[in-house]
Amino acid sequence: MLKSISMIHWLKIGLIAAVLSLAGHSQVAQAWWFWTPGDTVDNVGYKPEQPIPFSHKLHSGDRKIPCEYCHSSARRSFSSGIPSGNTCMGCHKIVRTDRDSIKKITEAYNNNQPIEWVKVHDLPDFVRFPHKRHVQAKEQGGAGLACQECHGKVEEMEVVEQGAPLQMGWCIGCHKERKAPLDCLSCHY
Ligand code: HEC
Ligand code: HEC
Ligand code: HEC
Ligand code: HEC
Ligand code: HEC
Repeated sequence: MLKSISMIHWLKIGLIAAVLSLAGHSQVAQAWWFWTPGDTVDNVGYKPEQPIPFSHKLHSGDRKIPCEYCHSSARRSFSSGIPSGNTCMGCHKIVRTDRDSIKKITEAYNNNQPIEWVKVHDLPDFVRFPHKRHVQAKEQGGAGLACQECHGKVEEMEVVEQGAPLQMGWCIGCHKERKAPLDCLSCHY
C-alpha cells in the first residue's frame, strides 16, 4: 500500500519535472510551487504524547545540555536521530532514580528494549532532507543553520512540537532566499 502511494508521488514528480523541462521555462519551474498539489504535512504544533514525559525545557533549557549531546548525528548524517536508552542512562543511573519515569527507562534499558518514541516530524519518503547540509558549519560546506530556525525554541518546550510546516513551499522559500538548489531532484528521489 505505502509503496504504491509513493510510486504515484514519484510519477507525479517525474511527470511535472519532465513537462517543465520540455517547456524549458525555468521561471515556470521556479513559480510552479504556488500550485502545490499535495501539501499534506502542515502539522505545525503537532505534539504527540510520548511514552516517557521527556522535557526539552528541563534538559536543554534549565540544565543546558547541548542538542548534539543527544542528537549527535545531526552534523554528520542525514538524520539527527533520537538518542538510545544508553544516552539517558549515562546520567540516570545516578540522577532521579527514585522517580517512576526513570524506573521505566531503567527497566527498558536493562531488558534491552528501546523506548518507543512517537515521531513528531515526518516528511513523505519521496523527499530527501539531509540534516548535515543544513547544520554543518559554513567552513565545512554546510549552511550553518541553527536547529531553532526550523524547529523553534525547543529548549523552552516541555513537550516537543512541530515548529514549521515542512511543505515544499517552505523549503523552496528558504532555498530561494539563500541561493540553495531549486532543481527537483535535489529534494526528490
Ligand atoms: C538529553 C537528551 C536530549 C537533548 C539534550 C535534546 N534532545 Fe531533542 N529529543 C530527545 C528525545 C529523547 C526525543 C524524542 C522524544 C520527544 O519527542 O520528546 C527528542 C526529540 C526531538 C525532536 C523531535 C523529533 C521528531 O520526532 O520529530 C526535535 C526536533 C528535537 N528533539 C530537537 C532538539 C533540539 C533543537 C535540542 C537542543 C535545543 C534538543 N533536541 C536537545 C532528546 C534530547
Ligand atoms: C533547515 C531546517 C532544519 C534544521 C536547521 C534542523 N532540522 Fe531537524 N528536521 C528538519 C526536518 C525537515 C525534519 C524531518 C525529516 C524527515 O522526516 O525526514 C527534521 C527532523 C528532526 C528530528 C527527528 C529525527 C530525524 O532526524 O528525522 C530531530 C531529532 C531533529 N530534526 C533535530 C534537529 C537538531 C538537533 C538540529 C540542529 C543541530 C536540527 N534538527 C536542525 C529540519 C531541520
Ligand atoms: C547529561 C545528563 C542527563 C541526560 C543525558 C539525561 N538526563 Fe534526564 N535529567 C537530568 C537531570 C539533571 C534531571 C533532573 C532535573 C531537575 O529536576 O531539575 C533529569 C530529569 C529527567 C526526568 C524527570 C524526572 C522527574 O520526574 O523528576 C525525566 C523523565 C528524564 N530526565 C528523562 C530522560 C531521558 C528519557 C533521557 C534520555 C533521552 C535523559 N533524561 C537524559 C539529566 C540528564
Ligand atoms: C532556513 C533555510 C532552509 C530551509 C527551511 C530548508 N533548506 Fe535545504 N538548504 C538550505 C541551504 C542554505 C542549503 C545549501 C547548503 C550548502 O551550502 O551546502 C540547503 C541544501 C539542501 C539540500 C542539498 C542540495 C544539494 O544537492 O546540494 C537538500 C537536498 C535540501 N536542502 C533539502 C531541503 C528540504 C527537503 C527542505 C524542506 C523540508 C529544506 N531543504 C528546507 C537552507 C534551507
Ligand atoms: C527544496 C526542496 C524541494 C524542491 C527543490 C522541490 N520539492 Fe517538491 N516537495 C518538497 C517537499 C518537502 C514536498 C512534500 C511536502 C508537501 O507535500 O508539500 C514536496 C512535494 C512535491 C509534490 C507533491 C507530491 C504529492 O502528491 O503529495 C510534487 C508533485 C513535487 N513536490 C514536485 C516537485 C517538482 C516538479 C520540483 C521541481 C520543479 C520540486 N518538487 C522541487 C520539496 C522540494
